[in-house]
Amino acid sequence: MQRNTLTLVHDALRRHVRPGAICIDATAGKGRDTALLCRLAGDAGRVLAFDIQAEAVVQTRDLLAREGLTAEVYLDSHAHMARYLPPESVDCVVFNLGRLPGGDPRIFTQADSSIQAIDAGLALLRPGGLMAIALYYGGANGCEERDAVLAHVETLDPRRFTVLACRWANRTGEPPLPVFIWKD
Ligand SMILES: C[S@@+](CC[C@H](N)C(=O)[O-])C[C@H]1O[C@@H](n2cnc3c(N)ncnc32)[C@H](O)[C@@H]1O
Repeated sequence: MQRNTLTLVHDALRRHVRPGAICIDATAGKGRDTALLCRLAGDAGRVLAFDIQAEAVVQTRDLLAREGLTAEVYLDSHAHMARYLPPESVDCVVFNLGRLPGGDPRIFTQADSSIQAIDAGLALLRPGGLMAIALYYGGANGCEERDAVLAHVETLDPRRFTVLACRWANRTGEPPLPVFIWKD
């Protein structure tokens, strides 16, 4: 079995997200994480997805329609997610930081808004909630966002959050890094 950041994140979501859950996909992209969250949360759940690119919103809505799934897909920055839900009401927040596969390579997530969004997501999580981040870097994206996000999660209060930031020790290239944050 090929293990990678996506399989680790999806395994964690499958273990954590129960029917009726309220979930956020902070970076909708092509909608694959949104679709998984919809399947796990089921008809009784609620999934909100954000992306700043109209192309991503269209691709996500198309995927959901093809799969018979429903989510609220917003053309908005994830930095604004706290406008959509009350504090401590969310079970799971997922980030896939990087650029839209096959999309405009000049548009990718940025350190400042990603950190703002991570903090907003942590405030929205209910105790026991999970945030999963797949952290892409390298190439045109550089390493600024990766370094800023990793430095930021190290500062989270250990009495309120458990943070696991992983790295692939024997993989070549620049494999994305998985980061998991539990709100205690
Ligand atoms: C790596 S892709 C996401 C892939 C997606 N999870 C999937 O399953 O296809 C990253 C996405 O983040 C989006 N993005 C960049 N900045 C954003 C922001 N401030 N708020 C929300 N989405 C953003 C990009 O437009 C891109 O579609």
